[in-house]
Amino acid sequence: MRIAVFGSDGQLGTDFVATVKQGGQDCVPLTIEDVDLTNAPRVEDLLRKLRPDVVVNCAALHDVGQCEEKPALATAVNRDAVGMLSRLCGEMDAKLLTISTDYVFDGTKIEGYTEDDSPNPINQYGVSKLAGERLALANNPKTFVVRTQSLYGVSQLRGKKTNFVDLVLKLSKERDELKVDQCRMAPTGTACLAENLYQLLCSDRYGLYHMSCQGATTWYEFARKIVDLIGAKIRVTPVPNDFFPKNFRRPENTYLINQGLAHAGLDFMPSWEESLRHYLTARGVLA
Ligand SMILES: NC(=O)c1ccc[n+]([C@@H]2O[C@H](COP(=O)([O-])OP(=O)(O)OC[C@H]3O[C@@H](n4cnc5c(N)ncnc54)[C@H](OP(=O)(O)O)[C@@H]3O)[C@@H](O)[C@H]2O)c1
Repeated sequence: MRIAVFGSDGQLGTDFVATVKQGGQDCVPLTIEDVDLTNAPRVEDLLRKLRPDVVVNCAALHDVGQCEEKPALATAVNRDAVGMLSRLCGEMDAKLLTISTDYVFDGTKIEGYTEDDSPNPINQYGVSKLAGERLALANNPKTFVVRTQSLYGVSQLRGKKTNFVDLVLKLSKERDELKVDQCRMAPTGTACLAENLYQLLCSDRYGLYHMSCQGATTWYEFARKIVDLIGAKIRVTPVPNDFFPKNFRRPENTYLINQGLAHAGLDFMPSWEESLRHYLTARGVLA
């Protein structure tokens, strides 16, 4: 099976490519340097030459503040490029797996969201990702759209932004106090996410799925857990969710429930605590 992976050097893309290679598949990793997804003719030309059996799209403009400042770019990457990939996959009879986000929801449902809940994005990122989801599902019957959330992974390529876990590790050496808000979600390691995405795409259970680690927590509780596990002395203080000013509206409770995966018998995601321990071990922080 030939699998072309866009966004292959991102957090998720890096772990996904490793998983595909471990599975012995013919993997074609693609970065923005190979092809910019906003360049539709180049992408079409490339895919028609590659003739992949599966296209996996881990690429996105997911800096939420940047999406607010550059809505046209957010639309081009998160909606139009996904629409173009799904159209091409449909024409080539290829599977498409594209990643979406908890930010398609408005965050007002405290008990968590299933695939049956109605999206209601409250910022440009969420609007553009939801539009991409809809095109992906409409253009190609062999599409998986997978919403996930609050990712952290080992990829630290090309000076990319530090993920939350690494930020806490860093600040716990530099500061006495860490202030953290209490937005509710399930932090999800990209290593286990990549393995579960691979299982899903080997199936023919197409459609929309939620895929995040099990169990809801808050960013504050997550930070506390990291600090406890590494035995750091830093004080972790909860602050209101609007404590750090942002240029976008932020959904406050976006815990995703993996209902669709459970119904398909394909929910093998670990708890967020187990995923965190695995990550800290992989980073050499825990034995
Ligand atoms: N990170 C999260 O917490 C989170 C939460 C929910 C959902 N998601 C979704 O999960 C997926 C993976 O996220 P991630 O955290 O792995 O993101 P990431 O580390 O930023 O990776 C995204 C990749 O997309 C590439 N990219 C951006 N614009 C592109 C373009 N025009 N053409 C080709 N490649 C382009 C980026 O390249 P450059 O860096 O070189 O621009 C980067 O390699 C995305 O769909 C995201 O929306 C992420």
